[in-house]
Amino acid sequence: MIGRPAAARGDQSAARRTWWKEAVIYEVYPRSFKDSNNDGIGDLPGIIDKLSYIRDLGADTIWLAPIFASPNRDNGYDISDYKAIMPEFGTMSDFDRLMEKASSLGLRIILDLVVNHTSDQHPWFQKSRASKDGPYRDYYIWREPKGGLPPNNWPSPWGGSAWTFDAASDSSYLHLFSPYQPDLNWDNPAVRDEVFSIMKFWLDKGVAGFRMDAITMISKMPSFRDMTVEELKAPEYVYAAGPHLHAYLREMNDRVLSHYDVMTVGEAYGMHAQDIPLFTDSGRRELDMVFAFDIVHVDRQGWRKIAWPLSKLKDIYAAAGRPQSPDSWNTVFLDNHDQPRAVSRFGNDTAFFREASAKAIATMLLTQCGTPFIYQGEELGMTNLPFEGLEDFEDVQVPTAWETLVKRQGVDPEAFFESLKGLGRDNARSPMQWDASKNAGFTTADKPWYRVNPNHIQINARECLNNPDSVYYYFRDLIALRRKHPALVHGSYQDLDPDHSAVFFYCRESGKSRLFILINMSDRGFTYDSPHLAQASLLISNMAHRGGTRGVTWLAPWEARVYTA
Ligand code: GLC
Ligand code: CA
Repeated sequence: MIGRPAAARGDQSAARRTWWKEAVIYEVYPRSFKDSNNDGIGDLPGIIDKLSYIRDLGADTIWLAPIFASPNRDNGYDISDYKAIMPEFGTMSDFDRLMEKASSLGLRIILDLVVNHTSDQHPWFQKSRASKDGPYRDYYIWREPKGGLPPNNWPSPWGGSAWTFDAASDSSYLHLFSPYQPDLNWDNPAVRDEVFSIMKFWLDKGVAGFRMDAITMISKMPSFRDMTVEELKAPEYVYAAGPHLHAYLREMNDRVLSHYDVMTVGEAYGMHAQDIPLFTDSGRRELDMVFAFDIVHVDRQGWRKIAWPLSKLKDIYAAAGRPQSPDSWNTVFLDNHDQPRAVSRFGNDTAFFREASAKAIATMLLTQCGTPFIYQGEELGMTNLPFEGLEDFEDVQVPTAWETLVKRQGVDPEAFFESLKGLGRDNARSPMQWDASKNAGFTTADKPWYRVNPNHIQINARECLNNPDSVYYYFRDLIALRRKHPALVHGSYQDLDPDHSAVFFYCRESGKSRLFILINMSDRGFTYDSPHLAQASLLISNMAHRGGTRGVTWLAPWEARVYTA
């Protein structure tokens, strides 16, 4: 069985090859993936039904967004029992069946470890709140308010104060996210013991690792001093600068992770790109990979959606492709459950360009340096949702953001709404579009938990599976190509035309193998000329190939090609 305990990792030579470097990971947001019992909510049996769909795409590892008991204020990112399955999603025996079926298909499962905070309904927090001197008080972070004000000026990155007052004990608790998500006190060794025991519980069930939610935030600034005006502009960088962060991750690695052949990927919120090897350099024995946030910030400034020039994207990938340490490893992702849909954001989701541009950016996703992560529906070219008003949003973030920005800071409501349409997390969370039927084949219930994108009539898995030219099959072919050419996984990276404003042209090279990736990231067509292409032969393209003469070629809008030379 995959992912069972193995020998400790022991010494790791530089550039060691491991399964997770070669993996292609598919994120499932269980609530929106597939409903099996027609209550309008996706569930584990629904995922079991669709495992072969994921395997046929060529992914080999599935990241399940939280499946644990939760009051669902933040769709499972607020956990009330870490060792129980959310009843809406099924039972522990459904989970065991999921593991078995996945393993029989050669798929690994990784879980979402959400341990910066729990739900306010977790029994630990209930007990912590109930008694000032009980053993659970120090599981969380309590401070005295200051003359009717919160203990300090720390804001939640989601808006509002990071403290909520609890009248019963005349104190406030810290929550970097919503008030329903109190932060755990990692300085308390009992908390760390609990977390490590939860991890072992799931690892012993055979899971192949964890995606670690908000993991950079677990160590808090000991003085709890006020933040400066400068710090308040990007408080997440202060929260991620806790003095014990790396020590706690090392302890986690020593006591738990090093005893299993598993992978970890941490969400590196509030981290500067140059600090990432501090987590991922294998010699430090902390995490294997992280999700850096530079790609997430490429088109936003605070709450505002801004235009992004291709040069920004090139800079991000150039930095990622320049290894800062001998054995540090990257992730590549465009989409996840917190991001708008990649084709709407980095491509062009209008009918004329949607498929071509979804394929173009897929080419980038699967040929850059690092382990690629695909989010459910990305392989269909699913798009953002049409939103008409604030009531169309479901995300717990939205009311606080509205309150803070529009009501308190006087941000123009129209401008805020426009940005939210483009950036809102709900874009990713509408049900998976399986077919053209009512509710997209996600559920036969009258009403799914969240609305289905009306474009499921055209954009859905069945349509894709029946169309040899679909986005789905192009993803599949790219994944197969990646498996065939180790240079796409392990090769060096070089941007061959960093100044071009529309063409992304780069090389991945390993030993004798050289691959050239040429992508037109624009709505325009033009001729493009490069000596590198004179001898190259085409491996894959998202367009019927018309050929060219000696290094000169016509690039259609959003045309993408991979060559070998
Ligand atoms: C991470 C998750 C996000 C969640 C937040 C709080 O950013 O990806 O969905 O809301 O942490 O747990
Ligand atoms: Ca269900």
